[in-house]
Amino acid sequence: MCGIVGYIGSRNASDVLIDGLRRLEYRGYDSSGLAVLHDGRIELRRTVGKLSKLINNVSKRPVAGTIGIGHTRWATHGRPSEENAHPHMEGGVAVVHNGIIENYLALREELKKEGARFKSETDTEILAHLISREVRQGRSLEDSVMRALHHVKGTYAIAVISRHEPNKIVGARKECPLIVGLGQKEVVLSSDIPAILDITRKALFLEDGDVAVITRNRVAIKTLNGQDVERAPVVVDWTPVMAEKGGYRHFMLKEIFEQPRAITDTFRGNLMEESGDIFFSDLSLSPGDIDRIYIIACGTSWHAGLVGKFLMEGFSAIPTEVDLASEFRYRNPLVGRKTLVIAISQSGETADTLAAVREAKRKGAYIIAICNVMESSITRDAHWNLMTRAGPEIGVASTKAFTTQLVSLYMLSLYFARKLKRIDEKKGRELVQELVRLPMKLERVLNESGVVEDLARRYFHYSDFLYLGRGINYPIALEGALKLKEISYIHAEGYPAGEMKHGPIALIDENMPVVVLAPNDSSYPKIIGNVEEVRARGGRIIAIVNDGDREVKERSDDFITVPSAPYYLMPVILTLPLQLLAYYIAVFKGTDVDQPRNLAKSVTVE
Ligand code: F6R
Repeated sequence: MCGIVGYIGSRNASDVLIDGLRRLEYRGYDSSGLAVLHDGRIELRRTVGKLSKLINNVSKRPVAGTIGIGHTRWATHGRPSEENAHPHMEGGVAVVHNGIIENYLALREELKKEGARFKSETDTEILAHLISREVRQGRSLEDSVMRALHHVKGTYAIAVISRHEPNKIVGARKECPLIVGLGQKEVVLSSDIPAILDITRKALFLEDGDVAVITRNRVAIKTLNGQDVERAPVVVDWTPVMAEKGGYRHFMLKEIFEQPRAITDTFRGNLMEESGDIFFSDLSLSPGDIDRIYIIACGTSWHAGLVGKFLMEGFSAIPTEVDLASEFRYRNPLVGRKTLVIAISQSGETADTLAAVREAKRKGAYIIAICNVMESSITRDAHWNLMTRAGPEIGVASTKAFTTQLVSLYMLSLYFARKLKRIDEKKGRELVQELVRLPMKLERVLNESGVVEDLARRYFHYSDFLYLGRGINYPIALEGALKLKEISYIHAEGYPAGEMKHGPIALIDENMPVVVLAPNDSSYPKIIGNVEEVRARGGRIIAIVNDGDREVKERSDDFITVPSAPYYLMPVILTLPLQLLAYYIAVFKGTDVDQPRNLAKSVTVE
C-alpha cells in the first residue's frame, strides 16, 4: 500500500507530484505529503486525510522547485497524523517509503543510543535517520542509501532527496514496485504506471535490490553493493486518457461501463473463430504435464478463481482446487512437479498472492499468472503470464479486472480442453463464438442501468443483504456481497442457495432483502424452491433473471432481467447488475465510492 512519486526536470515539481499522487491515491488515502528542493532548502508539506487537503495547502502556499518526492499513505505503523505522514526528514534528507521495515524497533533503539530523536511513530523515519547518518560522514546520497539499506529487514520502495546534493533523486526497491519513467531531460519515479503517463510511456521497471540514481539527464541502476546493472526500458501500452474519469462521476462507474471493451481486448488476438482454437503464443506448458491445478488469489480475484474451478474441471477435467493466498502457504498444500498454480491478481503486487506463488515455485510447481499490470511482481515470478487487458483500474472496488479474469480463465480452460482433446472442434467453435458474442450482451445489461438505479433508490436504507447463487454463480453471489459491503458499508453475505436452510434462513425477515441469482440453468427449479423459502419467512426478493423468465419473476418483489448465455459465461453477465446495484446504493448513501474507508487497492502487506 502507499504510493510514492518523485520528479526531477524543469517543470514545477509540486504540480507533477500532486498529479502523480492523484493517480496513486487509490493505494492509500490516510494522509499525503511532498518535499521539494529549492535554493538549497527542502520545503515539506504534509496533511492528514485525502489528497485534496494537500492540494489546498499547496495552492495557498505554493512550493517552488523542480525536484521533489511525494507520498500518499495507507497507515501501517502509526495512526494517520501529520507527524506520521511522509516524507520523513532528518539532517537535510527526505524520504518517502512504501513497505514495512520489520526490524525498525531494534534500529530505533540503536539510533536513540547514538542520540537520534524521533518525531513520528513510523518505521520509515528510521530510514531518514540511517541515510542521514551516512551523509553526515561525507558519503554520496546513493552510497548512503545503499549502506542504510544493508541494515534494514523488510520490504520497501523508497525515493530520497538531499539538500546536500540538490540535483539527484535516489530510488530503491525490495518487494514493492518502483517504476522510473524516462522523459526528455526529466524523470518521474512512481509506484505504479498511471502516475508516469502524463510525462512519458517509456519506463524502467526496477527489480528487487536495484538502486536508481537519477539526475535530469541520466538514470544509473546499481545493486545494493554499488555494481552497475542494465535494465532495458519498456514502452507501456496504457495511455493517459485511460487513467482519467472520462466524464463519469466515479472511476468505478466508468470501469463498469468499460467492461465490454475490456473483455474484447482480453480475448482479441487469442482465438480463431473458424476452428474454435484458442492460442497463447507465450505459453509452452502442455496440460498433459500436469495432474492438478491450484488457483490462488485474494478478495475479488479469489472469487474469479472459484469460477475458474468450474471452468477447469468442466472443460478440461483437470482436478482444481482454489485457495485464498493468505491460507495456502500455511496449510502445507500438496504441491509438486506436476502441479500448476494459477495466481490471479489485478495489481500483481498483492503480498499474500506473491508469497504463495514463491512458495509454490519453491516446491517445483509451474506458475501461470493472470494479471492486469505488466512487469508487476507476480508477473515476474510466474513462468507464464496471461495479461487481462482491462486497462488501469483505479476505483478501489474491482470491477473490470474481475470480468476480464473470468474471460481469461474461460480461455485458458478451453485451451487446455482442446489440447487434451476433451472438446472437439465443433464444440470449441461454439464456445468461442459465445465468447465473441458476450460483449454485445453486456452492452444490453449496461443499457438497462436505469432499472438498477431505481432499485437502489428503494433499497439503499436497508442495513443487511443476503446474496444467493448456486453452482458456478455462487462465487458471483460472494462477489455481489463483497462489492456492496466494501463501498456502501452495508452488511452483506453471499451464500450458496442450497445452504441457506442450514443456518442463514434464521436471519430472514422483512428487513433483509435477498438478492437471488436465478438464471435459467439446471439449478433453476431448486432456486425457485429457495425463493419460496425466503418468501415464506417474509423476506424481500430481488431476483436477477434471464429474458423470458416467468416463475421467479412472479415470486419476486423486484427483478432485473439479463440476456441468456451458456452456463460457463453466465457469471460474467450476472456480475454487472450486482456491480451496478452496489454502485448506486453507495451513491444514494453518499459514501466515497472510489476510495472507501480503510481500504487500499494494492495490498502489499501480508
Ligand atoms: C475488492 C478488491 C479486493 C482485491 C484483492 C486482491 O473489490 O478489489 O478484494 O480483489 O485485494 O487484489 P489483486 O487482484 O490486485 O491481487
